[in-house]
Amino acid sequence: MSVLQTPLTQLLGCEYPVIQTAMGWVADPNLVAATCNAGGFGFLAGAVMTPQEVEQGIIAIKEKTNKPFGVNFHMYTPGANDIIDTCIFHGVKAVSYSRSPSKAMIQKLKDAGIVCIPTVGALKHAVKAVEMGADAVVVQGGEGGGHTGSVSSSILLPQVVDALEVPVVAAGGFKDGRGLVAALSYGAAGIAMGTRFLMTQESPVPTQTKQHYVKAPTEQIIVSKKLDGMPQRMINNPCLRELQQTSALGMLLLAVKNGLAFTKITGGSLVDMLRSGWQMKQSNGLSFGQTLMAANAPMMIQEAMVKGHPDKGILPSGQVAGAITDLPTGAELMQSIIDEAQATLNNLSTLM
Ligand SMILES: Cc1cc2nc3c(=O)[nH]c(=O)nc-3n(C[C@H](O)[C@H](O)[C@H](O)COP(=O)(O)O)c2cc1C
Repeated sequence: MSVLQTPLTQLLGCEYPVIQTAMGWVADPNLVAATCNAGGFGFLAGAVMTPQEVEQGIIAIKEKTNKPFGVNFHMYTPGANDIIDTCIFHGVKAVSYSRSPSKAMIQKLKDAGIVCIPTVGALKHAVKAVEMGADAVVVQGGEGGGHTGSVSSSILLPQVVDALEVPVVAAGGFKDGRGLVAALSYGAAGIAMGTRFLMTQESPVPTQTKQHYVKAPTEQIIVSKKLDGMPQRMINNPCLRELQQTSALGMLLLAVKNGLAFTKITGGSLVDMLRSGWQMKQSNGLSFGQTLMAANAPMMIQEAMVKGHPDKGILPSGQVAGAITDLPTGAELMQSIIDEAQATLNNLSTLM
């Protein structure tokens, strides 16, 4: 029996109130299973997969763990309904999503008993997410990796906790047991971490790329809109510096080249990609130019995260990478978080 039971552990059926978030090309079946076997709750990064790949991923996770786990996907993509059916068929415990959720899809998932736990980066989005049916909400402060908001966790988290009646999970800048206790004292039901799990042994990121994360100074993990038109936190490397200097026409040409390359890999058509892009534009208020730029992200991120060329591709990262210097196993990480949380709680109790 865990000593850190919260509404989150009850909702997700995990031992500890610690979520490993979805990260494109990083949160694979191996990482998810390692997290769950260590007592946390992992999400498969289905947003960058075809529905068939999501199903294969779910089956692969089940071969490695009998613990509950979740799937992340975008509700605006053409394969979203197939992914939902797959999650229902395989009895997935929870789903996570972010931009442009669909009320009908959320209802279908909830009717099947699947926990709906979106990630939001702003107070108004948290309120809206619950209105649309979310069972819990992950709230990501601006410190967080990948697409991120502008308000830091220490301000945003208590605002969201005060506004909602459902469990709130703190994300953005967390890495250890002190952070877990801090989040619990703000009223959160647990923490969700991306970058910390990326920097573990089980993460599939090539070693030379992981080393860039270990060495990155905190102040060089910056937010830029240049990759896909939306604020995204990344390590400031040669690839990002080159991107920042590329003209509007250069960005357009790059987007067309990367878009075509991406459709070749996914087997989708350019029409499908433009349709997804159009839905993204509608929901995020982006310009057409920005929407086209979204085609850059998949190819440029994979260059670093899959092919292992950290200077030639993009490195999405939370600021917290600047404070992480090790690459433990998932089990070592979880044990250290829980030990430190318990020690911190004991220390705090001596103040009473
Ligand atoms: C490499 C990387 C890839 C990410 N990919 C996704 C994704 O595919 N879907 C998603 O909802 N969030 C994605 N995120 C955001 C994370 O799920 C998570 O919310 C964030 O990393 C939390 O902040 P932290 O990095 O400070 O822990 C990504 C983050 C990183 C670092």
